Amino acid sequence: MKLVTGLAVASAVVTPVVLAAVPLYGQCGGSDYTGETTCVAGSTCVYSSQWYSQCVASSSTPTTTVASPTTTAVPTTTAAPTATPSGFVTVSGTKFLVNGSKFTVVGSNSYWVGLMGLSLDNMKTSFGNIAAAGGTVVRTWGFNEVTSASGNYYQSWSGTKPTINTGSSGLLNFDNVVAAAKANNIRLIVALTNNWGDYGGMDVYVKQILGSANHDLFYTDATVKTAFKNYIKTFISRYASEPTIMAWELANEPRCKGSTGTSSGTCTPATITAWAKEISAYIKSIDSKHLVALGDEGFYNQPGAPTYPYQGGEGIDFDANLQITTLDFGTVHSYPTPWGQGGNETAWGTQWIADHAASQKKYNKPVILEEFGVTSNQPATYTTWLNQVVSSGLTGDLIWQAGSKLSGWTSPDDGYAVYPDGAVYPVIKAHAAALKARA
Ligand SMILES: *[C@@H]1O[C@H](CO)[C@@H](O)[C@H](O)[C@H]1NC(C)=O
Ligand SMILES: *[C@@H]1O[C@H](CO)[C@@H](O)[C@H](O)[C@H]1NC(C)=O
Repeated sequence: MKLVTGLAVASAVVTPVVLAAVPLYGQCGGSDYTGETTCVAGSTCVYSSQWYSQCVASSSTPTTTVASPTTTAVPTTTAAPTATPSGFVTVSGTKFLVNGSKFTVVGSNSYWVGLMGLSLDNMKTSFGNIAAAGGTVVRTWGFNEVTSASGNYYQSWSGTKPTINTGSSGLLNFDNVVAAAKANNIRLIVALTNNWGDYGGMDVYVKQILGSANHDLFYTDATVKTAFKNYIKTFISRYASEPTIMAWELANEPRCKGSTGTSSGTCTPATITAWAKEISAYIKSIDSKHLVALGDEGFYNQPGAPTYPYQGGEGIDFDANLQITTLDFGTVHSYPTPWGQGGNETAWGTQWIADHAASQKKYNKPVILEEFGVTSNQPATYTTWLNQVVSSGLTGDLIWQAGSKLSGWTSPDDGYAVYPDGAVYPVIKAHAAALKARA
C-alpha cells in the first residue's frame, strides 16, 4: 500500500487540479459558486439546477434529465473517465468490474472495525471471517466527529473549528483498516458521515458551525458544506491511488431529519438530491478513480403509496438519485420491522428487493442491498431475500452485520450481528457462492 503520509503532501497532490480549469465532473457554476467556470478541454459546463452546473464530457448526453426528480428518462450514456485504472472497481451497465472482468459485490457491514481500538492483527481476523464466508466487500465508517478527543476519531471540533486527526488514533488507524482489508482481498465502501448521532455525524457540523439543531442545514448551509468538503478532501486524497477502496459514500442513511428529529421544515427529496449532486461531483473532481454512492436507504418518493418506505417522507427519492451522473451505483437498505412492516417482513422485503431491481434495470446502473436485517427468524428470512437478490438480478448485497469473536473481545451486537459460529453464516456463504456463479 502506498500512502501519502502528511497533510502538506496531500494538499500538494490536489493543488494542480484546483488551479487549472475545472476538471471533468467538477462544479463550474451555481448560485453560491465563486470558483473557476472554464471546463477542461473536451468537457462543457452543463446547467443542472439553480445551485449547480457541472463539467461533463462534450460528447456525452447532457445531464439536464436529472434536474427533475419526476423525470423517467433513461440516460443513454454517462460521462465516464476514458481510462480504467488497473485494479480499481469500475461500473459497466448494471455490473461491477475489476480489470475488465465481473466483480461480485457480496459481503458485510463492519462499522466498528476502525473505531474500537483494534490492533492490525485483530482487524485482519475480522476481515478474514468475512472473506472465509465468500465476502468480497465490507462497508465501514470513515468518520467519527468528536468534541473531546478519546479513542479512535477522525475529526475533533473546538467551537467552529474542525481538526482532522492524522495521528495513530486517526488516519494512521484507518490506514490499518485498509491494510487489513487488502490482506484479505476485501474491498471497502467507506461512508464519510452519518445521518445519525452515532460517531458524531452531520449534527456535529451543524451544531458546532451554526449552533443549530436543524439537521437539514447540513445539506444547505454553505459554510457547513465547505467544512464537509474539507474533511472529504483530506480523507480521500490520502487513498487516491488505493484500489482496496471500492467506493466513497456521501453519508450513512441521509434523511431530512436525524437523531434529534429537528429540521428547518423546508427539506424535501429535492434538497437531498441537490446535495448529493454537489458533493458527489466534488468527490469526482478530486478523485476520478473511485466509485461514489449516496449511502441512502433506497426510499421511493411516491406520495400516497401504501407503505411508508415508498412515500418520500424522509427526503429520499431513489429513482431521482439513481439518475445523478456522478453517483455510480444505487444503495438500498431493508429493515421492515422498524419501518412498520412487522409480521410481514419476509414478503415485504422480497417485494422491496424486486422494486429496486426494476429501478436498477430502468436506469442501467448497479444497485446493491447494502444493509439488511431482521432480529428473529434470520436464517429463513435471509434465505428468501438473498434468493430474491440472485433471481431478480439485483447487483449485490452486504448483510448488517458480521460480527467477530476475537481473543478477549467480541464485536458489538445490536440485535442484528451474525457471528462465524452462528446459523446465518452458512446462509451467507452459500449465497456468496450463488451470486458469484450468476451470469
Ligand atoms: C489488475 O491488474 C493489475 C495490473 O495487471 C494487477 O496488478 C492486479 O493484481 C489485477 N487485479 C485483479 C483483482 O485482478
Ligand atoms: C406484505 O407485503 C407484501 C409486499 O409488499 C404485500 O403485497 C402484502 O399485502 C403484505 N401483507 C400484509 C398482510 O400486509
